[in-house]
Amino acid sequence: MSFMNKTFALIAAVIICSVAYAQGERDPHFDPVPIPDYTLPDPLTANDGTKITTAEQWKTIRRPEVYKMFAEGVYGVLPPKFETMTFTVENVKKDARDGKATRKEVVINFNGQPNGVKARILIYVPNDRPEGKKVPAFLGLNFRGNHTITNEPDVTITEAWVPNDPANGRVNNRSTEASRGKGIAPTRWPIDDIIARGYALCTMYMGELAPDSNAEYTKSGVATLFPPKEEKDGTEWKAISMWAWGLSCALDYLQTDPDIDGTKVAVIGHSRLGKTALWAGACDERFALVVSNNSGCGGAALYRRPVGERMKIMQKNFPYWFCDNLFKYVDKENDLPFDMHELIALQAPRPVYVASSEKDIWADPKGEFLSACNAESVYKLFCENPIGDANPPKMPPLDTPVGGIIHYHVRNGGHNITPWDWEQYMNFADKYLK
Ligand code: GCU
Repeated sequence: MSFMNKTFALIAAVIICSVAYAQGERDPHFDPVPIPDYTLPDPLTANDGTKITTAEQWKTIRRPEVYKMFAEGVYGVLPPKFETMTFTVENVKKDARDGKATRKEVVINFNGQPNGVKARILIYVPNDRPEGKKVPAFLGLNFRGNHTITNEPDVTITEAWVPNDPANGRVNNRSTEASRGKGIAPTRWPIDDIIARGYALCTMYMGELAPDSNAEYTKSGVATLFPPKEEKDGTEWKAISMWAWGLSCALDYLQTDPDIDGTKVAVIGHSRLGKTALWAGACDERFALVVSNNSGCGGAALYRRPVGERMKIMQKNFPYWFCDNLFKYVDKENDLPFDMHELIALQAPRPVYVASSEKDIWADPKGEFLSACNAESVYKLFCENPIGDANPPKMPPLDTPVGGIIHYHVRNGGHNITPWDWEQYMNFADKYLK
């Protein structure tokens, strides 16, 4: 190559490396309001201005900086885990799900004390596998208790705080027998499909970690294990960090389970628990794959797009999910030193799947898509063509998964996680975890 050609190639490479996928043309459905111009912070510029060009620099210099921005500025700092944490296996049933699964419950005692705070993981492992073969797993929190995802009569009913819902058996903030298999949960957990595909399913009730209520989230659960700081500085952990901390503790157990391959655990979550899955994946790099389903504002969606839920609304309705520092940017999202593409980038180099649904404008599907695509520059330090056939800024057709190691789909229909969504996540996991 001549000197001139080399120079052009270099300039072109720099331009390609720093490409950011902006808004593109207005799409009346996914851009229901005009989107003012915005510039996303470059994940590859370190705090001192250094340009990050290698995977090693990302890991040692830039990733810790980005992680710190999210810990201190979005979700709050996670405390260390207790070395005294214990796990007790209970209630094992070898012929659950018509003999197709071994079901067990594992009680985590977070500090191992007699009256310690506990949470219970419900685990299904497929029976149809070669003797001694460990299986990959999906781990995700559920919204209303392990016993609500199934009608099996012997799954333990949670004793933790639950939101009242008398029609579904939840009264005086406690679950009754009538809440078994009831409410929003069952259709969201296609247990038999997951087992049939050769994955273990592991789930835990979010409320055993931290009640999903502003009035309650510090009164029981893991918050009570740590004395409140005397001088607050806005970085104190809030519910999403508590949920993520609990997921990491559950992974500690899964790495010891004889039936599960602890190096192949995907963390998954829907909506507020999708925000949690992304944060858990960022906090604990042992998660091998991360799935964000309709996580929206404070999850995958870009803050700089004024579509759907905004930080101000979140501050009013869910102040206890995010650390206080975040809310300094209410109505000033363009001044944020980061945006959510960098939360996706924190998953690198692991496979990450971001999904939206068409009618869920509240979660800003296009903001979720662009966020995923804009993590590309970081992934490119590790692999080629991370966004595969995704073609930002244009949204892909409905029900059509696109991408590479960063994957995306927008499903027809509304805010939910469906068996079809799960099928796509398992197709994706088949590629990376099997
Ligand atoms: C509300 C909230 C969202 C959240 C969702 C959910 O709609 O505004 O941010 O994702 O609840 O968790 O279902």
